[in-house]
Amino acid sequence: MMGYRTATAPRNGTSRLDIRFDNAGVDFGTRSALLPLSLTLSERRIGVIGLNGSGKTTFARLINGLTKPTTGRVIVDGLDTLSDAKTVLGKVGYIFQSPQNQIILPIIRDDIAFGLKARRLGKAEIEAAVDGILDRFGVRHLAERRAHELSGGELQMAALCSVLVTGPDILILDEPTNQLDLKNRALVQKTIAGLPENVIVISHDLPLVEDFDRVLLFDQGHLVADAPPAEAIARYRELAA
Ligand SMILES: Nc1ncnc2c1ncn2[C@@H]1O[C@H](COP(=O)(O)OP(=O)(O)OP(=O)(O)O)[C@@H](O)[C@H]1O
Ligand SMILES: [Mg+2]
Repeated sequence: MMGYRTATAPRNGTSRLDIRFDNAGVDFGTRSALLPLSLTLSERRIGVIGLNGSGKTTFARLINGLTKPTTGRVIVDGLDTLSDAKTVLGKVGYIFQSPQNQIILPIIRDDIAFGLKARRLGKAEIEAAVDGILDRFGVRHLAERRAHELSGGELQMAALCSVLVTGPDILILDEPTNQLDLKNRALVQKTIAGLPENVIVISHDLPLVEDFDRVLLFDQGHLVADAPPAEAIARYRELAA
Protein backbone atom coordinates (compact mmCIF):
# COMPACT_ATOMS: atom_id res chain seq x y z
CA MET A 1 0.00 0.00 0.00
CA MET A 2 2.71 2.45 0.97
CA GLY A 3 5.20 1.29 -1.64
CA TYR A 4 5.00 4.51 -3.63
CA ARG A 5 7.35 6.86 -1.84
CA THR A 6 6.76 10.55 -1.76
CA ALA A 7 9.47 13.18 -1.69
CA THR A 8 8.01 15.54 0.88
CA ALA A 9 6.09 14.38 3.90
CA PRO A 10 3.03 16.51 4.68
CA ARG A 11 2.88 18.44 7.90
CA ASN A 12 0.26 16.42 9.70
CA GLY A 13 0.07 13.35 7.52
CA THR A 14 0.28 10.70 10.19
CA SER A 15 -2.38 11.96 12.59
CA ARG A 16 -5.71 10.17 12.73
CA LEU A 17 -8.67 12.41 12.29
CA ASP A 18 -11.93 11.66 13.97
CA ILE A 19 -15.03 12.63 12.01
CA ARG A 20 -18.35 12.33 13.79
CA PHE A 21 -21.80 12.60 12.23
CA ASP A 22 -24.29 13.24 14.97
CA ASN A 23 -27.75 12.77 13.44
CA ALA A 24 -26.53 14.95 10.57
CA GLY A 25 -28.67 15.34 7.47
CA VAL A 26 -29.25 17.72 4.56
CA ASP A 27 -32.49 18.93 3.01
CA PHE A 28 -32.56 21.23 0.00
CA GLY A 29 -35.97 22.84 0.40
CA THR A 30 -38.45 19.99 0.54
CA ARG A 31 -35.99 17.52 -0.98
CA SER A 32 -33.89 15.33 1.26
CA ALA A 33 -30.39 14.91 -0.17
CA LEU A 34 -29.05 13.06 2.87
CA LEU A 35 -31.17 11.54 5.61
CA PRO A 36 -29.91 12.09 9.15
CA LEU A 37 -27.17 9.66 10.07
CA SER A 38 -24.81 9.06 12.94
CA LEU A 39 -21.39 7.50 12.53
CA THR A 40 -17.72 7.96 13.32
CA LEU A 41 -15.02 7.80 10.67
CA SER A 42 -11.41 7.25 11.67
CA GLU A 43 -10.13 4.67 9.17
CA ARG A 44 -7.30 5.67 6.92
CA ARG A 45 -8.98 4.90 3.61
CA ILE A 46 -12.72 5.19 3.23
CA GLY A 47 -14.67 4.69 0.00
CA VAL A 48 -18.08 6.16 -0.77
CA ILE A 49 -20.18 4.54 -3.50
CA GLY A 50 -23.75 4.65 -4.82
CA LEU A 51 -25.88 5.58 -7.82
CA ASN A 52 -26.01 9.10 -9.29
CA GLY A 53 -27.88 11.45 -7.00
CA SER A 54 -27.68 9.09 -3.99
CA GLY A 55 -26.08 11.70 -1.71
CA LYS A 56 -22.35 10.92 -1.91
CA THR A 57 -21.14 14.43 -2.70
CA THR A 58 -23.54 15.92 -0.15
CA PHE A 59 -22.15 13.55 2.49
CA ALA A 60 -18.55 14.46 1.62
CA ARG A 61 -19.18 18.22 1.51
CA LEU A 62 -20.56 18.03 5.05
CA ILE A 63 -17.15 16.89 6.25
CA ASN A 64 -15.30 20.04 5.23
CA GLY A 65 -18.26 22.28 5.93
CA LEU A 66 -18.90 23.34 2.31
CA THR A 67 -22.42 22.07 2.87
CA LYS A 68 -23.96 22.76 6.26
CA PRO A 69 -26.15 20.15 7.96
CA THR A 70 -29.80 21.19 8.10
CA THR A 71 -30.24 18.73 10.98
CA GLY A 72 -27.70 17.53 13.54
CA ARG A 73 -23.98 18.21 13.62
CA VAL A 74 -20.75 17.16 12.00
CA ILE A 75 -17.69 17.23 14.23
CA VAL A 76 -14.18 17.02 12.75
CA ASP A 77 -11.37 16.49 15.22
CA GLY A 78 -13.58 17.94 17.95
CA LEU A 79 -14.56 20.97 15.83
CA ASP A 80 -18.09 21.75 14.71
CA THR A 81 -18.23 22.38 10.94
CA LEU A 82 -20.73 25.19 11.58
CA SER A 83 -19.07 27.12 14.40
CA ASP A 84 -15.44 26.28 13.51
CA ALA A 85 -15.82 26.37 9.75
CA LYS A 86 -12.49 28.01 8.97
CA THR A 87 -10.36 25.62 11.01
CA VAL A 88 -12.23 22.65 9.58
CA LEU A 89 -11.59 23.90 6.03
CA GLY A 90 -7.86 23.92 6.78
CA LYS A 91 -7.92 20.33 8.05
CA VAL A 92 -10.01 18.80 5.30
CA GLY A 93 -8.70 19.08 1.74
CA TYR A 94 -11.30 18.56 -0.96
CA ILE A 95 -10.87 17.83 -4.64
CA PHE A 96 -14.06 18.55 -6.52
CA GLN A 97 -15.85 16.26 -8.92
CA SER A 98 -14.70 18.62 -11.72
CA PRO A 99 -11.17 19.82 -10.86
CA GLN A 100 -11.42 22.58 -13.50
CA ASN A 101 -13.73 24.35 -11.02
CA GLN A 102 -11.03 24.20 -8.41
CA ILE A 103 -8.05 25.78 -10.12
CA ILE A 104 -8.55 29.52 -9.66
CA LEU A 105 -5.46 31.11 -11.17
CA PRO A 106 -4.44 30.64 -14.82
CA ILE A 107 -0.89 29.42 -14.21
CA ILE A 108 -0.52 26.20 -12.21
CA ARG A 109 2.41 27.43 -10.11
CA ASP A 110 0.42 30.52 -9.03
CA ASP A 111 -2.62 28.44 -8.22
CA ILE A 112 -0.61 26.11 -5.99
CA ALA A 113 1.03 29.11 -4.28
CA PHE A 114 -2.35 30.77 -3.76
CA GLY A 115 -3.30 28.40 -0.94
CA LEU A 116 -0.15 29.41 0.94
CA LYS A 117 -0.56 33.17 0.61
CA ALA A 118 -2.79 33.42 3.66
CA ARG A 119 0.08 32.06 5.78
CA ARG A 120 2.87 34.34 6.79
CA LEU A 121 5.43 32.78 4.50
CA GLY A 122 8.14 34.56 2.58
CA LYS A 123 8.36 34.39 -1.21
CA ALA A 124 11.26 31.90 -1.10
CA GLU A 125 9.41 29.63 1.31
CA ILE A 126 6.34 29.64 -0.89
CA GLU A 127 8.42 28.85 -3.99
CA ALA A 128 10.15 25.99 -2.15
CA ALA A 129 6.82 24.56 -0.98
CA VAL A 130 5.37 24.75 -4.50
CA ASP A 131 8.42 23.04 -6.01
CA GLY A 132 8.35 20.47 -3.21
CA ILE A 133 4.76 19.45 -3.89
CA LEU A 134 5.29 19.39 -7.67
CA ASP A 135 8.30 17.11 -7.16
CA ARG A 136 6.39 14.96 -4.72
CA PHE A 137 3.99 14.02 -7.52
CA GLY A 138 6.55 14.16 -10.32
CA VAL A 139 4.76 16.99 -12.14
CA ARG A 140 7.27 19.84 -12.05
CA HIS A 141 6.74 20.17 -15.82
CA LEU A 142 3.20 21.44 -15.17
CA ALA A 143 4.39 24.46 -13.14
CA GLU A 144 4.26 27.07 -15.89
CA ARG A 145 1.36 25.54 -17.82
CA ARG A 146 -2.03 27.20 -18.21
CA ALA A 147 -4.80 25.37 -16.36
CA HIS A 148 -7.28 25.60 -19.23
CA GLU A 149 -4.83 23.83 -21.55
CA LEU A 150 -4.28 20.80 -19.32
CA SER A 151 -5.69 17.36 -19.93
CA GLY A 152 -8.06 15.81 -17.39
CA GLY A 153 -5.27 13.76 -15.81
CA GLU A 154 -2.88 16.69 -15.61
CA LEU A 155 -5.60 18.83 -14.08
CA GLN A 156 -6.32 16.16 -11.49
CA MET A 157 -2.61 16.09 -10.52
CA ALA A 158 -2.47 19.90 -10.37
CA ALA A 159 -5.56 19.99 -8.15
CA LEU A 160 -3.94 17.41 -5.88
CA CYS A 161 -0.86 19.64 -5.56
CA SER A 162 -2.91 22.78 -4.86
CA VAL A 163 -4.82 21.08 -2.08
CA LEU A 164 -2.02 19.05 -0.47
CA VAL A 165 0.50 21.91 -0.38
CA THR A 166 -1.49 23.41 2.50
CA GLY A 167 -0.99 20.22 4.57
CA PRO A 168 -4.54 19.05 5.30
CA ASP A 169 -4.96 16.06 7.64
CA ILE A 170 -7.46 14.41 5.40
CA LEU A 171 -8.16 14.54 1.71
CA ILE A 172 -11.52 13.97 0.10
CA LEU A 173 -11.49 13.12 -3.60
CA ASP A 174 -14.80 13.27 -5.43
CA GLU A 175 -14.62 10.91 -8.43
CA PRO A 176 -10.89 11.38 -9.03
CA THR A 177 -10.71 8.97 -11.99
CA ASN A 178 -13.74 10.31 -13.79
CA GLN A 179 -12.86 10.94 -17.46
CA LEU A 180 -9.30 9.66 -17.13
CA ASP A 181 -7.71 7.25 -19.59
CA LEU A 182 -6.23 3.97 -18.34
CA LYS A 183 -2.77 5.45 -17.90
CA ASN A 184 -3.86 8.50 -15.91
CA ARG A 185 -6.33 6.39 -13.95
CA ALA A 186 -3.45 4.11 -12.92
CA LEU A 187 -1.37 7.15 -12.00
CA VAL A 188 -4.12 8.60 -9.83
CA GLN A 189 -4.74 5.21 -8.17
CA LYS A 190 -1.03 4.82 -7.43
CA THR A 191 -0.86 8.37 -6.12
CA ILE A 192 -3.82 7.83 -3.79
CA ALA A 193 -2.27 4.57 -2.57
CA GLY A 194 0.93 6.43 -1.71
CA LEU A 195 -0.68 9.32 0.16
CA PRO A 196 0.17 9.35 3.86
CA GLU A 197 -2.88 11.54 4.50
CA ASN A 198 -6.20 9.94 5.41
CA VAL A 199 -8.40 9.78 2.35
CA ILE A 200 -12.07 9.55 1.57
CA VAL A 201 -12.70 8.65 -2.05
CA ILE A 202 -16.06 8.91 -3.75
CA SER A 203 -16.10 6.79 -6.86
CA HIS A 204 -18.07 4.94 -9.50
CA ASP A 205 -14.75 3.25 -10.31
CA LEU A 206 -15.17 0.36 -7.88
CA PRO A 207 -11.69 -1.22 -8.17
CA LEU A 208 -10.34 2.06 -6.82
CA VAL A 209 -11.87 1.40 -3.39
CA GLU A 210 -11.71 -2.37 -3.25
CA ASP A 211 -8.68 -2.52 -0.97
CA PHE A 212 -9.89 0.30 1.29
CA ASP A 213 -10.55 -0.13 5.01
CA ARG A 214 -14.23 0.73 4.90
CA VAL A 215 -16.83 1.49 2.22
CA LEU A 216 -20.09 3.39 2.64
CA LEU A 217 -22.93 2.78 0.19
CA PHE A 218 -25.64 5.41 -0.26
CA ASP A 219 -29.01 4.97 -1.91
CA GLN A 220 -31.55 7.78 -2.26
CA GLY A 221 -30.00 9.70 0.62
CA HIS A 222 -29.85 6.66 2.92
CA LEU A 223 -26.67 5.05 4.15
CA VAL A 224 -27.52 1.46 3.21
CA ALA A 225 -24.19 -0.28 3.79
CA ASP A 226 -21.19 0.50 5.95
CA ALA A 227 -18.91 -2.47 5.52
CA PRO A 228 -15.66 -3.90 4.22
CA PRO A 229 -15.30 -3.18 0.47
CA ALA A 230 -16.33 -6.61 -0.87
CA GLU A 231 -19.57 -6.57 1.11
CA ALA A 232 -20.51 -2.97 0.25
CA ILE A 233 -19.69 -3.47 -3.44
CA ALA A 234 -21.79 -6.66 -3.56
CA ARG A 235 -24.73 -4.76 -2.04
CA TYR A 236 -24.25 -2.01 -4.62
CA ARG A 237 -24.33 -4.53 -7.48
CA GLU A 238 -27.60 -6.00 -6.14
CA LEU A 239 -29.05 -2.52 -5.79
CA ALA A 240 -28.09 -1.47 -9.31
CA ALA A 241 -29.28 -4.70 -10.94
N1 LIG B 1 -27.37 22.53 -4.06
C1 LIG B 1 -28.38 21.67 -4.28
N2 LIG B 1 -29.66 22.12 -4.38
C2 LIG B 1 -30.68 21.26 -4.58
N3 LIG B 1 -30.54 19.93 -4.66
C3 LIG B 1 -29.31 19.44 -4.55
C4 LIG B 1 -28.15 20.27 -4.36
N4 LIG B 1 -27.05 19.48 -4.30
C5 LIG B 1 -27.49 18.22 -4.45
N5 LIG B 1 -28.84 18.18 -4.60
C6 LIG B 1 -29.66 16.98 -4.76
O1 LIG B 1 -29.34 16.09 -3.71
C7 LIG B 1 -29.28 14.75 -4.18
C8 LIG B 1 -27.92 14.16 -3.87
O2 LIG B 1 -26.95 14.84 -4.68
P1 LIG B 1 -25.40 14.49 -4.62
O3 LIG B 1 -24.70 15.47 -5.46
O4 LIG B 1 -25.00 14.35 -3.20
O5 LIG B 1 -25.38 13.03 -5.32
P2 LIG B 1 -24.16 12.12 -5.74
O6 LIG B 1 -24.40 10.78 -5.08
O7 LIG B 1 -22.88 12.79 -5.48
O8 LIG B 1 -24.41 11.93 -7.32
P3 LIG B 1 -23.36 11.76 -8.55
O9 LIG B 1 -22.90 10.32 -8.55
O10 LIG B 1 -24.22 12.06 -9.74
O11 LIG B 1 -22.27 12.76 -8.37
C9 LIG B 1 -29.62 14.80 -5.66
O12 LIG B 1 -30.99 14.51 -5.80
C10 LIG B 1 -29.34 16.24 -6.05
O13 LIG B 1 -30.17 16.64 -7.10
MG1 LIG C 1 -21.37 13.50 -6.71
